[in-house]
Amino acid sequence: MFRAISGITLDVKQGETYGVLGHNGCGKSTLIRMIATLLIPDKGEIRVFGKDVYKSRAAVKKLINRVSVEASFFKRLSARENLIYAARLYGMDVADAEKKAKAILKQIGFPMKKYDEPVEKYSRGLQQKVAITRGFLTTPRLLLLDEPTTGLDPKSKKEVQMFIRSIRKKHDVTLMLSSHDMDEVDALCDRIAIMNSGRIVAEGTGEELKKLVQENDKYEIVTSQLKDVYLALKDVEGVLDIKVADKKVVFESKKKILPKVVQKLNGLDFEQINTVKPTLEDVFLHLTGKSLSDQEE
Ligand SMILES: Nc1ncnc2c1ncn2[C@@H]1O[C@H](COP(=O)(O)OP(=O)(O)OP(=O)(O)O)[C@@H](O)[C@H]1O
Ligand SMILES: [Mg+2]
Repeated sequence: MFRAISGITLDVKQGETYGVLGHNGCGKSTLIRMIATLLIPDKGEIRVFGKDVYKSRAAVKKLINRVSVEASFFKRLSARENLIYAARLYGMDVADAEKKAKAILKQIGFPMKKYDEPVEKYSRGLQQKVAITRGFLTTPRLLLLDEPTTGLDPKSKKEVQMFIRSIRKKHDVTLMLSSHDMDEVDALCDRIAIMNSGRIVAEGTGEELKKLVQENDKYEIVTSQLKDVYLALKDVEGVLDIKVADKKVVFESKKKILPKVVQKLNGLDFEQINTVKPTLEDVFLHLTGKSLSDQEE
């Protein structure tokens, strides 16, 4: 039997932004759909603010909202009509809802001249912006964002990320966000789960995850004298794994040996010495053996 996800245990704390990072098909959407009461697991238990997702489905649905890339709309209706419809389903006052919807749409760069055009005429990115607005309209206590910025251009992506950040500051909302964008997850999430083939292979803050791959200190020296710098470094005790790359020499060291290195470089020409910090990409590669940035979107 194929298992989309298996053996997952996770605990999202109230008020935090929890990121789920993983390749296409690793099970992110399946996990989010289960929490959203849309899929029933063969085994296991899910609670949202203490309520069992399947036994108290209606109560849970009132607390959550989900935004996904395959969001559905009444395609012939406009953004205004779709958003008002959604607001009324949640019992919101229409005038209040419209005010709020417009404010969110403006913040995430939606062209308001299209507000009354049918959704079917919108690009995918614009539809995504309406979906995001709908997700935040009802002030859910838990918002599940399944790849909220996939399909958006870089500017729109930034706008949506800034909006998510501003919401987190202002409201007591708990967010769970899936993505294959490491920088997004790193920038927005308090804690991150890395998924691979239906399992969580690591979980922690960005810093904690990066420590998994940072056994040694790592530095780069920007220089035009690549060979001389390389030879000088070779003689320093504690310097490991020296690599020569484009205009720089990169090396690792066991302990803080920078003063010794600088002493050794005396008389040589170098522009700067930088500390190289691991990225979530390094962590992902280390844990899964696959690069996240290589995958097709
Ligand atoms: N209804 C289904 N029936 C059978 N297999 C499914 C079904 N839904 C998902 N899967 C499979 O389960 C696995 C996990 O899918 P899921 O959609 O959760 O991945 P994902 O991490 O969200 O991927 P993506 O980044 O592409 O959105 C995939 O191998 C997928 O093919
Ligand atoms: Mg998915």
